[in-house]
Amino acid sequence: MDKKVYIETYGCQMNLADSEVVMGILGKQGYSLTHEMNEADVVFLNTCSVRDNAEQRIHGRLGNIGTLKQKNSNLVIGVLGCMAERLRDELIEQKKMVDLVVGPDEYRRLPEFIDHALTGEKGIGVKLSRTETYEDIEPYREEGLSAWISVMRGCDKFCTYCVVPYTRGRERSRTLASIVEEVKSLSERGFREVTLLGQNVNSYIDGEKDFSDLLAACAEVDGLMRIRFTTSHPQDLSDKLLYTISDNSNICNYIHLPVQSGSNKILEGMNRTYTIEHYLGIIERARKIIPGVSFSTDIIAGFPTETEEEHQMTLDVMKNVRYDGAFMFKYSPREGTKAYKMEDDVPEEVKSRRLTEIIDIQQKISYEINQELIGTKEIVLVENKSKKSDDFFAGRTDDNKTVILPVGNDVKIGDYVKVKITKATSGTLFGDFVSIEDVYKKEPTLFVD
Ligand code: SAH
Ligand code: SF4
Ligand code: F3S
Repeated sequence: MDKKVYIETYGCQMNLADSEVVMGILGKQGYSLTHEMNEADVVFLNTCSVRDNAEQRIHGRLGNIGTLKQKNSNLVIGVLGCMAERLRDELIEQKKMVDLVVGPDEYRRLPEFIDHALTGEKGIGVKLSRTETYEDIEPYREEGLSAWISVMRGCDKFCTYCVVPYTRGRERSRTLASIVEEVKSLSERGFREVTLLGQNVNSYIDGEKDFSDLLAACAEVDGLMRIRFTTSHPQDLSDKLLYTISDNSNICNYIHLPVQSGSNKILEGMNRTYTIEHYLGIIERARKIIPGVSFSTDIIAGFPTETEEEHQMTLDVMKNVRYDGAFMFKYSPREGTKAYKMEDDVPEEVKSRRLTEIIDIQQKISYEINQELIGTKEIVLVENKSKKSDDFFAGRTDDNKTVILPVGNDVKIGDYVKVKITKATSGTLFGDFVSIEDVYKKEPTLFVD
């Protein structure tokens, strides 16, 4: 049997990592991955429910795929991930073309579900598990430099706006040993960067070992391997973690630390469990302990009851912290969450205007931060050819900024290169080759000739 699977992934990096687990499971049963939907026997959408527009996109996509099924009635169509978990049988009832609905903790059953689907039987697997981590499954990864490793699953935070605790279930961690093994095998395959993933990675726990211990253990595997992680919750971000980042040159000086809002009243309504003062205190400590550390964040505009003044507080926090980057969203009410019971009382046009203001401020700050980098030298991991031209490489700095540099000087993909920054936009840096770095050693990010 050589059945081909096409999988389209939406949502966060956890979903990208899960798609690799899905292909790991199916690969063992003789399935292979195809990048062409037209030649697939099985089409999966690995879906996201975090905001209504994420779900609307997938409804639209299912419509397109339905026409494929009209041409090939043997085609198996499955909805995986968070939307499968949230909508369950509703999806099967409403979408005639869907054969399978399988949530994030039931992927081991996919081969069985596909077999049944081939005999015309529809399948639903949406039980959440307290223990499933797929740690014994080797994710299917194509060759490359960067890999995701999910180190914990689920979320116990229950922010009032968020569906994730319902679609992903309770927190559980993989063993430290299994993660370190995975980093080793990626290093042997030539990978140069791993990102440790969890909705709330700071809650990682394996016996006595916490997330800092895990980071340190991963960093030790290969000094040439960059270690990144996401997402940190401000409540649990410890000084121990900050010192671990500072002590290990290959753990990136970059922390994604969602703030969501600058107002304590709104943060309380969101059940974020910290105050803005506590949050700013972490930023301050991090900047002392890790010189040159950068931050990115997530922000929600127009949470219920948000006043103009409270919106202004969010803008003030942005100006105060000066994030390198931000993911910015309009509040989207999600059925089943606590906030869904609150009145969605910020009118759509006010939400839109606030979001625009948030985006504009962030653009300006990112631009200014990048302008300040002109003249500095940065260590860049060269990742691929630039999308726009074969004459240029694209790579990233330790603090996750994209840098474009010219092809030549014996530079190869996978090299660490020192680059002198000559030009910058809000999203990209451009630079000239200085030298290839034999050993990846972090230098202070800012030093001007
Ligand atoms: N666990 C991570 C990410 C969760 S989802 C964290 O806590 O940071 C990513 C982001 O989506 C959240 O940080 C939040 O900013 C946004 N988000 C989640 N639910 C939302 C909703 N109902 N409406 C708008 N944005 C939402
Ligand atoms: Fe959602 Fe909050 Fe958990 Fe993040 S920490 S996944 S926002 S409930
Ligand atoms: Fe979306 Fe699920 Fe991730 S809701 S953001 S895919 S955890």
